[in-house]
Amino acid sequence: MKRETVVVLDFGGQYNQLIARRVRECGVYCEIYSYRTDLEKIKERNPKGIIFTGGPNSCYEAGAPTYTREIFNLGIPVLGICYGAQLMMHLLGGKVEKAPVREYGKIEVNTDASSKIFGDVSPKTICWMSHNDYISQLAPGFRASAFTDNCPYAAMEDESRDLYALQFHPEVLHTQEGKKMLSNFVYKVCGCAGDWKMDSFVEETIQAIRKKVGSGRALCALSGGVDSSVAAVLMSKAIGSQLTCVFVDHGLLRKKEGDEVEAVFGPSGPYDLNFIRVNAQERFYEKLKGVEEPEQKRKIIGEEFIRVFEEEAKKIGAVDFLVQGTIYPDVVESGVGGESTVIKSHHNVGGLPDYVDFKEIIEPLRDLFKDEVRQAGLELGIPDYLGFRQPFPGPGLGIRIIGEITAEKVKMVQDADAIWREEIAAAGWDKKVNQYFAALTNMKSVGVMGDERTYDYAIALRAVTTTDFMTAESAEIPWEVIGKATSRIVNEVKHVNRVLYDCTGKPPATIEFE
Ligand code: XMP
Repeated sequence: MKRETVVVLDFGGQYNQLIARRVRECGVYCEIYSYRTDLEKIKERNPKGIIFTGGPNSCYEAGAPTYTREIFNLGIPVLGICYGAQLMMHLLGGKVEKAPVREYGKIEVNTDASSKIFGDVSPKTICWMSHNDYISQLAPGFRASAFTDNCPYAAMEDESRDLYALQFHPEVLHTQEGKKMLSNFVYKVCGCAGDWKMDSFVEETIQAIRKKVGSGRALCALSGGVDSSVAAVLMSKAIGSQLTCVFVDHGLLRKKEGDEVEAVFGPSGPYDLNFIRVNAQERFYEKLKGVEEPEQKRKIIGEEFIRVFEEEAKKIGAVDFLVQGTIYPDVVESGVGGESTVIKSHHNVGGLPDYVDFKEIIEPLRDLFKDEVRQAGLELGIPDYLGFRQPFPGPGLGIRIIGEITAEKVKMVQDADAIWREEIAAAGWDKKVNQYFAALTNMKSVGVMGDERTYDYAIALRAVTTTDFMTAESAEIPWEVIGKATSRIVNEVKHVNRVLYDCTGKPPATIEFE
């Protein structure tokens, strides 16, 4: 697939993915590469523009991430952001040193409207700054195009060479007109036409899958989550009944979830595919008996999932392709794309089956960010409740039952969670919070029901707002909503006599309880 591409060269900044997402939001496809990537490889991508990210280092220190100066001579526009801006100046003969005043936070920047980057941007605009070093002298040929009280060169450019640099971060939302600036870069400087559109992506991907799979067969593990659902629908539209989806119900799904997945993907649903549901609840509960340690539970659930999947695959026999719902952040975080080495190992439940007989892996969503997966889902007409559902961890309720998992506890947390979700939705809060669920604490306490003393479990309710799930705030759900859910839970869920609301943010807590 030929499409115009902007390359983000990652110098270890925390916002590398955000830059790529913002560029894509402008309608231009964007990929992230580590600064260790060879110039030849970058040239092969034939980019319309290159963006240098921020990073934690000082560019003048020995061993700091750098790049060959040749990149500025390719005739491809380059935009440096924060560290990227400093590095550009440093490499081209300017001067970077420790700033007399560190700038951090939202800062008013005075922009020069004659710069292509600042076309249609206000003359005074709030931008997000975060730097200890500053550019004290411009490289030859550059002129300043923005300044702040403490920073004479908040932006600079050499228009004749299409080189631009911003000391602040246009990619974060705190920079009020940042998106406009990035859009100016890709359209006015790089001359992009904006050919990254979801409808054409979906159509092209379906064609490409058809061509690749031919008359072969493909196998897909379906969890009912957004990624695997969208991957399955794309595959089904491309190859119909040459696709088999295996859905493993590990008994740790939300209430009625297994049936919901079956209603959509099973024989009475709208899609042409072979659907196999494996009810493996008992098997998982057996393996998890007596296990209390969260990471061990995750491991057991992930491994058992693979074993069940393998057994089903064996029954089907050899297939040509194994479908994986990998998305672009997985690719970047696994170190293939950018500079980030953080892998949330526990988030990649499953991994690859060892004993499935297939020739090749097919990853139809490999190029997409999460929000793009949802858009693709919309294009494909998957039901809203599948495309826009809140995240649900692979190990499911297994990490929402503190301590040992039993079938009885699963039922308790399922029922309480269903009530909490109903009440949140009834109050219209489902659109305002990003994740909300019930967890079963391992705490038993004394209560009184009628005239009787009880000694039962406490349910914890959680609702958080977050944009990236790396940090989160506990949501201020109105008391009456919590109150109604509380009385329903203690009345309707057996062996629960107490309900707690978790007021903790992340950090210091995590979103899940385990
Ligand atoms: P935490 O609890 O780490 O959660 O604040 C952040 C986000 O990640 C999800 N999460 C998981 N997802 N497997 C998953 O697939 C896991 O083991 C796992 N643990 C946490 C969590 O639901 C939240 O959205």
